[in-house]
Amino acid sequence: MTLPPDSTAPAAARHERILILDFGSQVTQLIARRLRESGVYCEIWPFNAAPEARIRAFNPKGIIFSGGPASVTEGESPRAPDYAFASGLPILGICYGQQTLAHQLGGTVEGGHAREFGRAHVDVTGDCAITQGIWAKGAREQVWMSHGDRITELPPGFRVVASSEGAPFALIADDKRHYYGTMFHPEVVHTPHGAQLLKNFTHLVCGCTGDWTMGAFRAEMIEKIRAQVGSGRVVCGLSGGVDSSVAAVLIHEAIGDQLTCIYVDHGLMRAGESEQVVSTFRDRFNIKLIHRDASDLFLGQLSGVTDPEQKRKIIGRLFIEVFEEEQNKLGGADFLAQGTLYPDVIESVSATGGPSVTIKSHHNVGGLPEGMRMKLVEPLRELFKDEVRALGRELAIPEAIVGRHPFPGPGLAIRIPGEVTREKADLLRKVDSIYLEEIRTAGLYDAIWQAFAVLLPVRTVGVMGDGRTYDQACALRAVTSTDGMTADVYPFSMEFLSRVANRIVNEVRGINRVTYDITSKPPGTIEWE
Ligand code: XMP
Repeated sequence: MTLPPDSTAPAAARHERILILDFGSQVTQLIARRLRESGVYCEIWPFNAAPEARIRAFNPKGIIFSGGPASVTEGESPRAPDYAFASGLPILGICYGQQTLAHQLGGTVEGGHAREFGRAHVDVTGDCAITQGIWAKGAREQVWMSHGDRITELPPGFRVVASSEGAPFALIADDKRHYYGTMFHPEVVHTPHGAQLLKNFTHLVCGCTGDWTMGAFRAEMIEKIRAQVGSGRVVCGLSGGVDSSVAAVLIHEAIGDQLTCIYVDHGLMRAGESEQVVSTFRDRFNIKLIHRDASDLFLGQLSGVTDPEQKRKIIGRLFIEVFEEEQNKLGGADFLAQGTLYPDVIESVSATGGPSVTIKSHHNVGGLPEGMRMKLVEPLRELFKDEVRALGRELAIPEAIVGRHPFPGPGLAIRIPGEVTREKADLLRKVDSIYLEEIRTAGLYDAIWQAFAVLLPVRTVGVMGDGRTYDQACALRAVTSTDGMTADVYPFSMEFLSRVANRIVNEVRGINRVTYDITSKPPGTIEWE
């Protein structure tokens, strides 16, 4: 089992920390997000990868047990490590975490009760540190529940603070030992005061002060990069996206010209993007940047290829080849910088225990070329995406890059079903930039996770002026999402869509029909290929 990221790393080690033990809930990451938002550094570890020595070395100020899909009434179900209790640290158990807490401390948990799922209301019957200043005794509060089992008998030392019809022990507390448990999920937004309840646990119970800020992270990470790299040379693949951009600027701030960025331009970027990468990094940040226009090579090899996975493979392979070529021209490097984020390195407990089906092989351009024997510099390994954005703002990276929608590594190639040609890419760029311009003008950009146009491989009949047209159709897509795993269609007004469609048909010669994709994910995916 590979262990989660090095928790003794200086950036985190100087901060107060909370340990989250993961029992496999779908929303464990949200606990960490909420804690980080209140300025508390935390890490998620699988419940079974937390031996005493490791917890001691991590030196947390408190421990949270996440929810999970198992039932404590089943023999083989997960348990918290004994040391969690022996440590004397405050503990908060959430859902399954509450049940195993109660069970391991001598309470009784039973299955077979009515399942409670979704919004519920609890009656606050007492008070405790967790509810201080948030929930008053006698109030009725909204929470989000998702459970089948429930506690039927409290362990010694505990009392009830809030209850619902389906969950008489919705919030329990043992003030002496600083143990708390919630049947509901405080980490999800459907528990409106959930973030504050968690903050009370970390700040009031565990004594955290909220010392995790991006300003502090920046200063410490710069020291850490200097210590790691010494006088070595670093290369970084820039993609124009948020992660590689922030990693590059941070590393440059640490080691200056020891860093060279390589931007492999596959010719499938959106309008103006390559120019923006060059002007931002070379001209504004003074970063040594190699801009390799490899569009002929990429488009040449994509010629005649229609299969989406084939396109991804070709682009991935060529990217590595070109990157290596450029890197060899530099005379090699000692380190490869990557914009790896915390969600990529969290070793989650899979609810099913098995690997999930590969729907698409997501080749991340800028990823580690296999066989390259360089050490890695990954300064963002401890951060969530919203923290990377905050760090980017701290580093004065333009908002156009920091707040940018995600863009897939293979670029427009997977937004042109069928064969990709330069002409088609040019046509799509025009459509896409009108669409995005209108979204920005309407002030909707930040409310949308991703918005883009797709060039459809169909020609349709239209009428313009007195003449008949027989041109291509395009589709527009816009979705809201929190992580790209699921997505909902963005509900534009008809008026907005008509305005965009009119502009596209009038301004882009070759397009005579515009459709809006209203498929959510699942069953659709965000991209068309
Ligand atoms: P799907 O289409 O699978 O996309 O719903 C989910 C998220 O992943 C992005 N995506 C990719 N990113 N290489 C990437 O780097 C890829 O091949 C790729 N395919 C999809 C997509 O834009 C969305 O954000």
